[in-house]
Amino acid sequence: MKVNNKDFYRITSFIKQNYGVDLNQKRTVVEESLDKILLNCNFTDLDQLLNVLEKKNDEIINSKVIGLLLTNYTYFLREPSHFEILSEVILPKIYNNGNKKKGIRVWSAATSSGQEAYSILMAVLNFLKEEIRDWNVEIIATDVSQAMIKKAKAGIYQKEEVEKIPDDWLQHYFNVCIDGSYKIKDSLKEYVKFKLLNLLSDFEFEKLFQVIFLRNVLIYFDSELIEQIVDKVADFLEVGGYLFIGFTETIEIKSSKLICIQPSVYRKI
Ligand SMILES: C[S@@+](CC[C@H](N)C(=O)[O-])C[C@H]1O[C@@H](n2cnc3c(N)ncnc32)[C@H](O)[C@@H]1O
Repeated sequence: MKVNNKDFYRITSFIKQNYGVDLNQKRTVVEESLDKILLNCNFTDLDQLLNVLEKKNDEIINSKVIGLLLTNYTYFLREPSHFEILSEVILPKIYNNGNKKKGIRVWSAATSSGQEAYSILMAVLNFLKEEIRDWNVEIIATDVSQAMIKKAKAGIYQKEEVEKIPDDWLQHYFNVCIDGSYKIKDSLKEYVKFKLLNLLSDFEFEKLFQVIFLRNVLIYFDSELIEQIVDKVADFLEVGGYLFIGFTETIEIKSSKLICIQPSVYRKI
């Protein structure tokens, strides 16, 4: 659907103000998604949709719109060196640090459809093996899109989506469904809690995290917002804890709370 400049401005302003994502350079994506959005939300014209977005806080409509407009691209074990650091540096450190409470807390912020959170879980399970029983493992995985959270909770992925997972992990941590898809084992779901969370909101957590994955979402925000969000996210990281951002996010993080230890990896000071 072709949209005029005024309507394009209205829809991009709504997304920017409410979710921080700048779609100004994505006119084709927006135009291509609008037909699907109108159909999905039962609107006959764009003006109807824009009026509802601007005037009512209709969570169902908002959720359908962002589910179709925001980029959700993700895959298992994306940016493998982050998982190497997790398995070879961070987890051994937590394990050997006389962590008396035996707790591992990781936040996958902007988790999309769950692949990042389950990748973290598999790395933890593979590290702790049988000892997992003695540990309190909590992976909190959040996203602003209800549709992504629903898919993540279901934990079902097509064969091509699990290609990057090593065979032994796939066998240990997934069941094969009748239709050939792969489902994360129910017994593992207790370790991951999926929740709806807008990074622009006034979010809170009761406990701090040792590791936070905030990957491939900052690229959609402007520099001022990046600074605000990173600063707030850093408040929920333990001193010495690790923050990962996406490889391609060549962003200068200006936070007095963090030091960069290598590109895309930060520690709380
Ligand atoms: C490209 S995916 C990244 C997924 C995963 N972190 C990765 O690196 O593969 C970006 C995700 O950010 C989410 N997102 C965008 N704006 C957000 C916001 N304001 N708050 C929380 N999540 C947001 C989108 O819904 C989408 O699922």
